[in-house]
Amino acid sequence: MGFSEKQRAVLRWPYTGKSALICDGAVRSGKTSVMSLSFVLWAMGSFRGQSFALCGKTVGSAERNVITPLLGLAYLREHFSMEYARSSHVLTVSRGGRANRFYVFGGRDESSYTLIQGVTLAGVLLDEAALMPRSFVEQALARCSVEGSKLWFSCNPDVPEHWFRKEWLLKLEEKDATRLHFTMEDNPGLSEAVKARYRKMYAGVFKRRYIHGEWTAGDGLIYDMFDPEANVYRDGDRPQGLPYLASRTIACDYGTVNPFVLLDVYDDGETVWVDNEYRWDSRDLDQSQGRQKTDQEYADDFLTFQGPNQQFWCPAVVDPSAASFMEELRRRQVYVIPGDNSVLDGIRRTGALFQRRILKIHERCTGLIGELGSYVWDNKAAAAGTERPVKSLDHGPDALRYYVNTCLPKWRYGEEGTAK
Ligand SMILES: Nc1ncnc2c1ncn2[C@@H]1O[C@H](COP(=O)(O)OP(=O)(O)OP(=O)(O)O)[C@@H](O)[C@H]1O
Ligand SMILES: [Mg+2]
Repeated sequence: MGFSEKQRAVLRWPYTGKSALICDGAVRSGKTSVMSLSFVLWAMGSFRGQSFALCGKTVGSAERNVITPLLGLAYLREHFSMEYARSSHVLTVSRGGRANRFYVFGGRDESSYTLIQGVTLAGVLLDEAALMPRSFVEQALARCSVEGSKLWFSCNPDVPEHWFRKEWLLKLEEKDATRLHFTMEDNPGLSEAVKARYRKMYAGVFKRRYIHGEWTAGDGLIYDMFDPEANVYRDGDRPQGLPYLASRTIACDYGTVNPFVLLDVYDDGETVWVDNEYRWDSRDLDQSQGRQKTDQEYADDFLTFQGPNQQFWCPAVVDPSAASFMEELRRRQVYVIPGDNSVLDGIRRTGALFQRRILKIHERCTGLIGELGSYVWDNKAAAAGTERPVKSLDHGPDALRYYVNTCLPKWRYGEEGTAK
């Protein structure tokens, strides 16, 4: 394959005498593939009989993003013999009596901590370094005691206060490190069509990060791409066959003191229609006179909301922490799916659907629409290096997240064929 200028800089980097290389930036920009190649070539050119670590977020992702592509590279196969032992996760590369071993570790796999504590390394490659616990990264670096060892990092940007940015990107000189910043233009393997698909896949803060490669925190509104015209529909705009030709799900965010929310969601295979909502807010005195409901009462409300016509039977996707309510629904013969509560994944995906105008909300869902307009990033958490929404007025958006994360296939929000 032909390389871009940025990628060639990665191939030349081992001869610059620096101790660490950091490649950060946009998704799919050609960081991991060229770093893994350069890493193996450097290791084979400089050492024999040594051990190296190839680390991913998990062993599985390291195998998918690093090992499998390496094993497929014709250039390496011509010049080296490579053997990967799948059970012990060790890649052995050799040429003419000179061999090195590359151990695969997962920063988020518990067992990797104990394994990596015992080894002495001549180099570490940390792919997706910003997604690993700091303690794992530091443990891996501490194992690099062989003379001439080097550290290789790749990552996508995160919040500006992230420990990796503060400890490494802002201290390049102190760490004797080189930083190379990548965008999709640095990957000659991406067609214009593929680049366009990735640009469409991300919106808001995720676009600034994963497409422009900026270390940036979400500020203010989370769904700033939500358009009260394009994402809202009235009775007249409702597709005629909606209840019949679409699959229906009721999404639920559970609360007793906090509001309890149901969303009636239809998916026609192209667009997701949030057609109605129900909420019970014990603190909204006009509605509830301050009364909290029991699980039995909520289950009654669920069945009323679902309506009498059981031919439109539909599953319930429920707040995964609401164990007793899920039990109660199951007792009423409702098919219950615990919602997937990966917050940032859910927000990223929901944002992409709003952006593409394939997620629409009926104007009568005033609670949900109102909350979408006040669903904001938590600045205090961002200042401490983590990212999450402010936990208030988030009940409708939470139910929507559970639905998007749990019920839609990845291609619907454009992530098919991606590792994230
Ligand atoms: N020079 C090249 N020529 C052809 N294809 C390339 C080239 N560089 C990278 N690719 C391909 O582009 C895809 C993305 O590359 P890679 O995985 O290295 O990107 P990345 O920056 O690590 O992405 P992410 O941030 O999503 O992990 C891979 O399929 C890879 O094989
Ligand atoms: Mg990568």
